[in-house]
Amino acid sequence: MVKDMKTIRNFVIISHIDHGKSTLADRFLELTSTIPPEKMREQYLDLMDLEREKGITIKMQSVRMIYNNYMLNLIDTPGHVDFSYEVSRALAAVEGAILLVDATQGIQAQTLANFQLAKEQNLVIIPAVNKIDLPSAEITEVSREIENILGIRRDEILLVSAKEGTGVREVLKAVVGRIPSPKGNPNLPLQALIFDSVFDPYRGVVVYVRIINGRLKKNEKIRFLTKGKEGEALEVGYFKPNLSPTESLSAGEIGYIVTGLKSVQDARVGDTVTKSKMDQETIEPLEGYREPKPFVFASFFTTSGEPKELREALEKLQLNDSSLVFEPEKSSILGLGFRCGFLGLLHLDIIQERLEREYALDLVVTTPSVPYKVTKKDQTEIDIKTPQELPNPAEILEIKEPYLNLEIISPSKYLGLVMELTLNHRGIYKEMDYLDSKNVLLSYEIPLAEILVDFYDCLKQVSSGYASLNYKLIGFRPEKLVKLDFLVASEKIEPLSLIVPQKDSFKIGQTVVKKLKKVIPRQMFKISLQAAIGGKVIVREDIPAYRKDVTAKLYGGDVTRKRKLIDKQKKGKSKLKRFGKVEIPSDLFLKVLR
Ligand code: GTP
Repeated sequence: MVKDMKTIRNFVIISHIDHGKSTLADRFLELTSTIPPEKMREQYLDLMDLEREKGITIKMQSVRMIYNNYMLNLIDTPGHVDFSYEVSRALAAVEGAILLVDATQGIQAQTLANFQLAKEQNLVIIPAVNKIDLPSAEITEVSREIENILGIRRDEILLVSAKEGTGVREVLKAVVGRIPSPKGNPNLPLQALIFDSVFDPYRGVVVYVRIINGRLKKNEKIRFLTKGKEGEALEVGYFKPNLSPTESLSAGEIGYIVTGLKSVQDARVGDTVTKSKMDQETIEPLEGYREPKPFVFASFFTTSGEPKELREALEKLQLNDSSLVFEPEKSSILGLGFRCGFLGLLHLDIIQERLEREYALDLVVTTPSVPYKVTKKDQTEIDIKTPQELPNPAEILEIKEPYLNLEIISPSKYLGLVMELTLNHRGIYKEMDYLDSKNVLLSYEIPLAEILVDFYDCLKQVSSGYASLNYKLIGFRPEKLVKLDFLVASEKIEPLSLIVPQKDSFKIGQTVVKKLKKVIPRQMFKISLQAAIGGKVIVREDIPAYRKDVTAKLYGGDVTRKRKLIDKQKKGKSKLKRFGKVEIPSDLFLKVLR
């Protein structure tokens, strides 16, 4: 059956992180009786355990709801900047966007970035101020910001408490009333845009699609436009939000196709699904998406140095996360592992946690670094992803590091502190724009390496939590960089090495050595800690010898208690890894920079 396209509405909810997208989606699910009350739980669309625990959306999620005989297809998107490529994919599949702004926070960097993305796609935008139930809500103020900064008429702005349900029905009415029904023709050849894909171990690749033209029935043959790979629609259906089979999908609808393909590489996100070879010759591929490029690299090893299980786990995670890349790496002290590429630090954290939790792996993760481009004196150019790959300084003509366009929105009263922070992180000031009487938009160019570790936390700190940021990679630029090595008890701890600006090397050396002194447990002998460039020591500290006799406190001969304490101490040590003479906590590499 072909659905009447006039009754279809496809939309996303976009906002800055934590402004309430998933909570608003919960209310929609209740109001439309998509989820029965007894099954309802908070942030229903965050299906992953990790999402629920961290309270953030990592993966976009789609759901179909029926409201007043309209079919509403909603895509809930993640708010964190690491996952902004997910947002851009979702935007291409819909006609409208609800833009949520937290009434206690106002417009933040990702509000602006996502608003601009939605505008570029010509989406109808429904602005809504959320959390109006909170005593600290500044409804008039935030509405004025939306009016002045985004140029949206005040009378278009809806007021909502996603938590309490106030104004939610009005939002759904606006979705039906303001967002246009999808265009497209069910009688043309099939043309479906893949906006996401997942791997099901039993049924192969499942692609999430927006049908642009035509229709697709179960068991029909399908073809993927770019690679010409053929398959069969083993099942078609929609999201409820779990996969719910139907007989067919037609123009305007959002749904899924179970393809039976064995690799997500054959059905890439952004590709177009067609039916016959003939269609393929006449149909232009739909405008695809930019491939997400890894920004941050870190190496993963198991504490045992055995890579087999780690490889299997990474391969499985990659099936559902095409932005995760990895290649084998060999380290003289950590054994065999993998150099992995991520979209950002949050992405790295998430992958690490999933490997540890879902695959019970005991990991050593090296200090994260960014990619560099090195021109050698013989004019060859190489890309390096680890400090270890950096050629001998005598061979190097120039090193280039990645730069970002950084946008910060901050209340003007923190302006001085924010500017100082960016300056200390090698930020190059570009321009400042007063968004309104209270808020400033600051633009900088800044090396990616500078914001990698704790920049975001520092920004929150200096602005009492009010400033927010957004960034985009702009290219590579030359800088005088050196490799800084660290030695513990005279042994070079390779995974700790960093590539740093020459002029900051002493300061960074000092900071890291001080951290090492804090986190490496005292041992029975004195341990020297050194920072060195090309064999020349620039910083040195010592950890004095110490023997922690935990049983000293115990009087009398309570042997069992003594045993227990010693066992406990042993357990505490199981996370230590031996480097030469010294045992080091295996999570040290991520810790030293934070
Ligand atoms: P990300 O997907 O991670 O960007 O977050 P989100 O935008 O989906 O936000 P989420 O729905 O997870 O809400 C963030 C926090 O704000 C949660 O603790 C919610 O309970 C709370 N929250 C959301 N809406 C409201 C509201 O209307 N009032 C109040 N008081 N709290 C709200």
